[in-house]
Amino acid sequence: PPSAMGNEDVVREELGSLHGIPLYKSFVEGWPQVEAFEARPDDLLIATYPKSGTTWLSEILDMIYQDGDVEKCRRDAIFNRVPFLEMKAPNIPSGVELLEKTPSPRLVKTHLPVQLLPTSFWDKNCKIIYMARNAKDVVISYYYFYQMAKMHPDPGTLAEFLETFMAGKVAYGSWYEHVRGWWEKKHEKQLLYLFYEDMKKDPRQEVQKILRFLGKEVAEGTVEKILHHTSFQEMKKNPAANYETMPAALMDHSLSPFLRKGISGDWKNHFTVAQNERFDQHYQEHMAGTDLCFQMEA
Ligand code: PPS
Repeated sequence: PPSAMGNEDVVREELGSLHGIPLYKSFVEGWPQVEAFEARPDDLLIATYPKSGTTWLSEILDMIYQDGDVEKCRRDAIFNRVPFLEMKAPNIPSGVELLEKTPSPRLVKTHLPVQLLPTSFWDKNCKIIYMARNAKDVVISYYYFYQMAKMHPDPGTLAEFLETFMAGKVAYGSWYEHVRGWWEKKHEKQLLYLFYEDMKKDPRQEVQKILRFLGKEVAEGTVEKILHHTSFQEMKKNPAANYETMPAALMDHSLSPFLRKGISGDWKNHFTVAQNERFDQHYQEHMAGTDLCFQMEA
């Protein structure tokens, strides 16, 4: 079958490698600045494997930081309000450059696996919120993202992409190692480990968890505003949250919108029975010996 590649995708290229983790070449080039990044003690780090609810969690946290003021949360695009630490691309400020200009308290986004997090975050004892999402929904979401976000290599067919994902040859490497690596760190008290599926089921409870973790109290009406403003439908139509202001050469929303479906269990609409069996087998091998459990649907 034809690939999802457009004709004009001049920016697609193979991934480079950062300490053995597949990553965009421009990010690898920018790594020295990231490694030397100076965290501030009041930075809050949002860490995720790609397509696990990063943008959702970011919007929730900005709403908390702005005390539920929706207009303030429209002040800029989400990728400027919550700079992406390791981001580096030609002709635009890097994540590190954006962060240096951001007043405290800063929200910082990263997809780095735990072993690559700049040591400054640990030294400064920064609070970290990690959000994980089940592997099957992540791989489907990632497949569509590879199609619309032109910094990725051609994903090929879904069958091919499933193999690439299982082999850990996608950007940011193995999902299995990522979720497990961060899970092991949660014994350190400054790390809150959340699940996309819990957020879908009971967003109020998860927002309360976040507030407790931050030691923040807000009025009940503020929680209502946060929940409304960060719902999938609201975020999908919000240009400050839906990535529509990204240059079209980088993201083509006509191929697949950034806020695509926003549900748990969409993998069931995509996996064949054989693919599901193969994936389950591989999953069990790679998740053996951990008490980390995922809900595969809502
Ligand atoms: S990225 O590029 O890694 O930062 O992407 P990320 O934001 O982590 O993940 C994108 C997926 O999250 C879904 N999303 C949401 N789901 C539910 N509610 C809200 N508010 C929400 N906002 C974003 C988004 O739709 C992507 O998932 P899929 O399954 O592709 O729809």
